[in-house]
Amino acid sequence: MLSYRHGFHAGNHADVLKHAVQSLILEALSIKDKGFSYIDTHAGAGGYALAHEWTQKKSEYLTGIALLWQHREQWPELAGYFGAITAINETMQAPADTLDFYPGSPKVAEYFKRPQDSLTLMELHNNEVAQLRENMAPQGRRLAQHYSNRSKGPTIHHTDGFTGLIGLLPPTPKRGLVLIDPPYELKEDYQTLAETMAQAYKRWPIGIYAIWYPLLAKDVDRSASLKAALAQTGFDNILCAELSVRQQAQDFGMHGSGMMILNPPWKLDEQLKSLLPRLAETLGQDPSATGHLAWLKQSDK
Ligand SMILES: C[S@@+](CC[C@H](N)C(=O)[O-])C[C@H]1O[C@@H](n2cnc3c(N)ncnc32)[C@H](O)[C@@H]1O
Repeated sequence: MLSYRHGFHAGNHADVLKHAVQSLILEALSIKDKGFSYIDTHAGAGGYALAHEWTQKKSEYLTGIALLWQHREQWPELAGYFGAITAINETMQAPADTLDFYPGSPKVAEYFKRPQDSLTLMELHNNEVAQLRENMAPQGRRLAQHYSNRSKGPTIHHTDGFTGLIGLLPPTPKRGLVLIDPPYELKEDYQTLAETMAQAYKRWPIGIYAIWYPLLAKDVDRSASLKAALAQTGFDNILCAELSVRQQAQDFGMHGSGMMILNPPWKLDEQLKSLLPRLAETLGQDPSATGHLAWLKQSDK
């Protein structure tokens, strides 16, 4: 039974890290005219109304994206990410400059998509996939015509993202990004992820893969064993970007999150090295907040 609903957490510090990294990678892929493939294994609902009762329950975006949004001119390196946020608010006809809606990873990817690029989204939860289809449908007839003239919309599969991914590899176009963002509700997700990546390496070793993972309390954190398992999957270049916003507790709670990037694009390490400490400074909730970048594996080639 799947109970995780991303709407409760939309725009929090973990989304900021994930979508900032996702945007930087898609920006790098957009430098060349050649098309890219984007695959989202755990897509969620696509986009979120911040006034929704679920999001309002803890208003996690207030200690996440809202803190950057109000000073966005100070973050030129995140212009692409902010562009995706502006785009969803404009599409939903929110008043100029307001932050009423927040893009999930599918909407972030849609913002970067050009006619030559392809988007494939997978989601297993019945209600979330229905929302995803609705949110990714062209808005209104005029827009529908606009879209059909320029490019194909995303392909959406109601399926398991781990097995679904293997069936899609290698994708066409043959360059691109896979975003893997499981809820880790099931303990097996960690093991399944590592096994999936070993298979993905055999089918598409040159793809860029960005994997989100939580940083949890000492008694329950599994990030170290996840890293150890991913280091064995065959990929030679693995970058880990971690943002911790508060002190790690002993028994319960998420104090931050990480993005593991397999085959990161050129210069992403430099971009993240300067971005992460600034994110920690802005999103930190106590003095122990840190932004940390490390190569888990790096080839000498
Ligand atoms: C963290 S949310 C995704 C958020 C989204 N990637 C974003 O950044 O906006 C995880 C999603 O994975 C879905 N999910 C859980 N297990 C799944 C599976 N095995 N395959 C595909 N989706 C799954 C959940 O229903 C949930 O919507």
